[in-house]
Amino acid sequence: MTSQQTNGQQATGTNGTSGSNVTNGTADLGKYIPKGASGIGVHDMVPELGYREYWYPAVEQKLIRRQPVALTLLGDQIVFFRDQKDEVVALTDTCPHRGAFLSGGTSKGPGNHEFKGFITCPYHGYTFDGTGQCVAALTDGPDSKLAPKLTARKYPTQTQRGVVYIWMGVTEPVPLEEDLPEEFFDPDVEIMTYVKNWPMNWSLTMENSRDSHNSKIHRGGIRRLITGQIFNPLPAFWEGTEITEEGDNYICIAPKVRQDNGKNMEQGYFPLLGKKWPQHVWWRFRSPRRVNPLNEQKNAFNNRRPGGLYRLPSIACPSARGHSQHLRYFTPIDANNTRMFTFAMKKVRTRLLHKLWWKFFYHTFYVYFNAPQTTNEKEDFPIQAVGTLDPHSDQKLGATDAAIIFWRRRMPWKSRDAQRIWGKAMADNAAVTIEQDEQREAVELPLS
Ligand code: FES
Ligand SMILES: [Fe+2]
Repeated sequence: MTSQQTNGQQATGTNGTSGSNVTNGTADLGKYIPKGASGIGVHDMVPELGYREYWYPAVEQKLIRRQPVALTLLGDQIVFFRDQKDEVVALTDTCPHRGAFLSGGTSKGPGNHEFKGFITCPYHGYTFDGTGQCVAALTDGPDSKLAPKLTARKYPTQTQRGVVYIWMGVTEPVPLEEDLPEEFFDPDVEIMTYVKNWPMNWSLTMENSRDSHNSKIHRGGIRRLITGQIFNPLPAFWEGTEITEEGDNYICIAPKVRQDNGKNMEQGYFPLLGKKWPQHVWWRFRSPRRVNPLNEQKNAFNNRRPGGLYRLPSIACPSARGHSQHLRYFTPIDANNTRMFTFAMKKVRTRLLHKLWWKFFYHTFYVYFNAPQTTNEKEDFPIQAVGTLDPHSDQKLGATDAAIIFWRRRMPWKSRDAQRIWGKAMADNAAVTIEQDEQREAVELPLS
């Protein structure tokens, strides 16, 4: 990489993206550039702490009251509070005077919300407004010469559907609409938000969203028992993964199963093992009313989307279509922790009863027995959390991991980070280029 990139003065976009001026000229952009394609590991070209040049969900607006809230996001310590207009704003949590946490850190500083609309450092009482400007250095007196010179970095924020989004980039923010899928702005879509911190790297959760683990990890469970899904035969194994659609910031992925819709893939014989797996399938039966999932469904999401979705910077929506949509948006905290936003969506807003029923269903069944807590936290979570999976191991990927290869090697070059801050020099030097990585079918690695 060039010295231009590492000192952050002139991060040249590879495609001349407009609005890419680095707004924080002193930022050390080098630290945001992944190490490069030295292997096919989790952080091959995917930044361990997340892509910077994006909006991320940070916190539910209702949680920011008089007391500030401190969060670590993408490795940055950030404090959220309400400014004089009662809007939620975000500043670096580190006081520019001598480094105390403006939020008070873990022990909440008693004075940090002394003045409504401002934040006051609990150490020497330097007080900042919503723009990050120091407006009073309390213990340096009303005539402080230092106060006007002090500013805390401000992160742009925007609230949408009760969730505060934060722009983590060092260049100018794009409109929020560019980063959020369109259903977030559809007035007919009711959205329920569920937030949980997971002890794992953010990218593992993305990769998990479209690989072949389904018939292993998710074959049982109370949800499938209650809904009767447990009795439906599933393909136990796939014949690979297909990238069914590709856009500027997303791909759609579908498992490849045989033309007979996986009928003969409910059980396989593994000769070296000398056994069939799953070992018993006699109790699964095909419902005569089984709906062809390829039929368009009234009021369903994504009728035309051919598969699950991976979208930059960290959005995964496993289902292709359905009457509700389970969309997850992962905000990295640090290398080993992720702030997981699960958005459960349904098109109900125009029908009051339907809306009430959806809320009742969500609070009584969906959260506890459906995706967020049962499927994700009790089944996916234990297999990827720190201590159960080594993201730095050497890995060998196969046909069912095609989406993972795209995620690790192709998607990074579509990212705004690549366009705005990685710089052309790095692209030229990388071991893998988009052209080399073009062979979608060549999933028998290595690619390099
Ligand atoms: S460290 Fe914050 S006021 Fe001194
Ligand atoms: Fe899963």
